Amino acid sequence: MQSADLPVGVEQPPEAIRSREGQLSPFDWYAEMRAEDPVRFDEQREMWDIFRYEDVDRVLKDHDAFTARRTREDNEFSSDAEDDTGMLQTMITVDPPEHNRLRGFVDERFQPGSIREYQPRVEAVTEDVLDALAGKEQFDFVDEFAIPFPVTVIAELLGIPAERRDQFKAWSDALIARPKNGTQTEIQRIQQERQQARQEMSGYFTKLVAERRGGDGDDFITLAANTEELSREEKVGFCILLLLAGNITTTNLLTNAIWSLEEQGLTDAVRTGAIDRKQVVEEVLRYRSPVQSLNRIAIADVELNGKQIQAGDVVTLWLGAANRDPEIFDAPEEFRPEQRPNRHMAFGMGVHFCLGAHLARMEADVAMQQLLERFDRLDANLSNLDPLYSLYGLKSLPCEVNRT
Ligand code: HEM
Repeated sequence: MQSADLPVGVEQPPEAIRSREGQLSPFDWYAEMRAEDPVRFDEQREMWDIFRYEDVDRVLKDHDAFTARRTREDNEFSSDAEDDTGMLQTMITVDPPEHNRLRGFVDERFQPGSIREYQPRVEAVTEDVLDALAGKEQFDFVDEFAIPFPVTVIAELLGIPAERRDQFKAWSDALIARPKNGTQTEIQRIQQERQQARQEMSGYFTKLVAERRGGDGDDFITLAANTEELSREEKVGFCILLLLAGNITTTNLLTNAIWSLEEQGLTDAVRTGAIDRKQVVEEVLRYRSPVQSLNRIAIADVELNGKQIQAGDVVTLWLGAANRDPEIFDAPEEFRPEQRPNRHMAFGMGVHFCLGAHLARMEADVAMQQLLERFDRLDANLSNLDPLYSLYGLKSLPCEVNRT
């Protein structure tokens, strides 16, 4: 994931997959690296790349040797370190035992039982977003469905009043915006916009957290407001983290699902129930993982697969490569929703395992069900795909539909 939202991340993709084609399909490179150089040091990026499932798993679980803290200073968004919004005090960039304090108060609310209770609200949001497409025979799946849907779900669960939701989406867009090119002016522009959005959001959440303290609402802001475990800044940081960690990732899961189903000619099989939707979601997570890589920083000298990693070294863990490791998966380069067991790592591993995993799964399931019910034909145009260049997804996915 990216530096500002989730720990460190791939600021500059490795040379081998920097092209449009490489970004769309880094999988041949992963296969080559897994076989030939599974733990390699990239001189250009000055960091290690780790490709095999077993090695990625080990690093993610070894908190004594690898930290999730974000201490690398030489990335374009390093000014985030001075940020005063509590971002650095969220669960995602701290190690145990501090991590337990920052996550413990909310863990229960993201377990499957609690998530099931949110389903009717997620269904209602899906209907609203689909209603906004009424009358259209063509639309961009990314812009008009996959982006607004998860933002609205989070706004709903945080308890953001409906009239503030447009503003909320604008903040969310600013927080995930990437520079359009590598010029200093463009990078500065993005940094400023992001900083401004952070400050505005931070002010907004600070106010809401104060207002909801002592309240009995079941929204996440009230939950954070009422916990004794977190400082005021940490409560605000938590609210912003939910936005950052949960939106573009879910957008990409939805986009990658339609992309994969259309590419494989399986959309109708899912519509008729011949293929199980939940298994499709898991297979999309494995086959086109929205988060292809995570970073950690070594805090001890460690030997990994015969290579000596030193304290202070940055490691990139290629979840996308681990998720196609033939040691773990049969026919890993094929899209096989019936694949069982599907022990993919798309949500990470260890203590930082995605807090929102069950929510994301439910959102994807509900979204696919309603989309396929609403449209009896959904043709995605796969002829000119434009990769996202940050997390793994597409910038747009034009679709033509017929209504049932
Ligand atoms: C952590 C992926 C959706 C909230 C993570 C991590 C991954 C991930 C790989 C581990 C990061 C690390 O170890 O450094 C995804 C994917 C999603 C998704 C692929 C959608 C398909 C969501 C949603 C939410 C969410 C919907 C919340 C509403 C979080 C949080 C963490 C996290 C709070 C940090 C957990 C911790 O540090 O203990 N996610 N995520 N994610 N995710 Fe997700």
